[in-house]
Amino acid sequence: MSTLNRRPRRLRVTPAMRDLVAEARVHPRQLIQPHFVLPGVNRREPIASMPGIERLSVDLLLEVVAEDLQLGIGAVLLFGLPTAKDPRGDCVADPDSPVTRAVAALKARFGADLIVMTDVCLCAYTDHGHCGLLSDEGEILNDESLPNLVKMAVAHAKAGADVVAPSDMMDGRVEAIRAGLDAEGLSHVTLMSYSVKYASAYYGPFRDAADSAPTSGDRQTHQMDARNVREALRELDLDLEEGADIVMVKPALAYLDVIRAVAERSSVPVACYNVSGEYSMVKAAAARGWIDEAKVVRETLHAFARAGADLIITYHARSALKGGWL
Ligand code: PBG
Ligand code: ZN
Repeated sequence: MSTLNRRPRRLRVTPAMRDLVAEARVHPRQLIQPHFVLPGVNRREPIASMPGIERLSVDLLLEVVAEDLQLGIGAVLLFGLPTAKDPRGDCVADPDSPVTRAVAALKARFGADLIVMTDVCLCAYTDHGHCGLLSDEGEILNDESLPNLVKMAVAHAKAGADVVAPSDMMDGRVEAIRAGLDAEGLSHVTLMSYSVKYASAYYGPFRDAADSAPTSGDRQTHQMDARNVREALRELDLDLEEGADIVMVKPALAYLDVIRAVAERSSVPVACYNVSGEYSMVKAAAARGWIDEAKVVRETLHAFARAGADLIITYHARSALKGGWL
C-alpha cells in the first residue's frame, strides 16, 4: 500500500471542503471603498469611465457610507474636487474644502465605527495638475512641495481623519508629514504611505474622476518605473524609517509580485490599491458579457490576499459585498 498522497483533488471535492482549506481569505473589514467628494449639496455625478462610481456631495456621501457600513465596509478613502485651483495648491488646507467637510461629517455621524482615510496630494488642487509645485522651467520641486502636503495632512487630521495617506511620491514627505502632525498634537493620527506607487497608465479613469490630470508632461519623474522591484524595497525601507504606519503598493493587479516582495519585508501592514483602470477594464468587459463580473472580482480580490496584502483599496468593495461575491 502506497503512503504517497497523489490525490490533491480530495481537498476540492465540495464548496465546504474548499472553504475549509482555503489559504487566503478576504474579510469585509480589510476592504476600503474610495469616494470622490463634490462641493455643494444634493449633488451626484456619474463618472463615465468608472461605471457604478459617482462623485457625491457630503450629504449624499453620508447615506452611501451608512449603507456600506451595514454591508461590513469599515473604511473609506476620500478624494476631493475643490472649487478653486491655483499654481501652488494653496487651497489644500481650506477647512471648507469638500474633503475636510466630509471628514468632519463622517466622524460626527459614525464616530469610531468608521475609519476615515484621506488622500494627500496636490494634483487635484494645482491648476497645472501636478503633484507638487513647479519651477519656472516646469520641473516638479521636491522640498518646496512638502509644506503644502504637510498643511493638507494637518487640515484633514484636525477635521478628524483617522488616517492620512500621502500619494504624491515626493522624497521625504512621510517624515515631514509625521513631524507636522506631531507638532500639532496629532500624534494619534495614522500615516498610510503610498510607498510603492508606479507611474501607471491604469490611473487614467481616476484622473477624469478627480479632475487631476496634468495639463502637460507626466508623472514619471516622481512615480516609480514599472520595470523595477528592487527600487520598491528601497521606497519601502525609506518610508518605514520615516515613520509610515501602513505601506501601500499601487497599482495592485499588474504588481502582485511587488505586493509579495513588500509583504515579506515590511514590519507594518501592507495595503494594495486596485486602481481605477483595473476596475474599469472589468466593468467594460462585464458590460459586454465577455467575463463574469462576480467571479472575476472574487478571483481578483483573493489574488491580492494571496499575494500578501492585508488591506485592499478597491472600487469593487460595495458590489462585492452586496452581491455576496466573496
Ligand atoms: C493622486 C492619486 C492618483 C490615484 C490616487 N491618488 C492619481 C495619480 O497619481 O495620477 C490613482 C487612483 C486610481 O487610479 O484609482 N496622486
Ligand atoms: Zn498627485
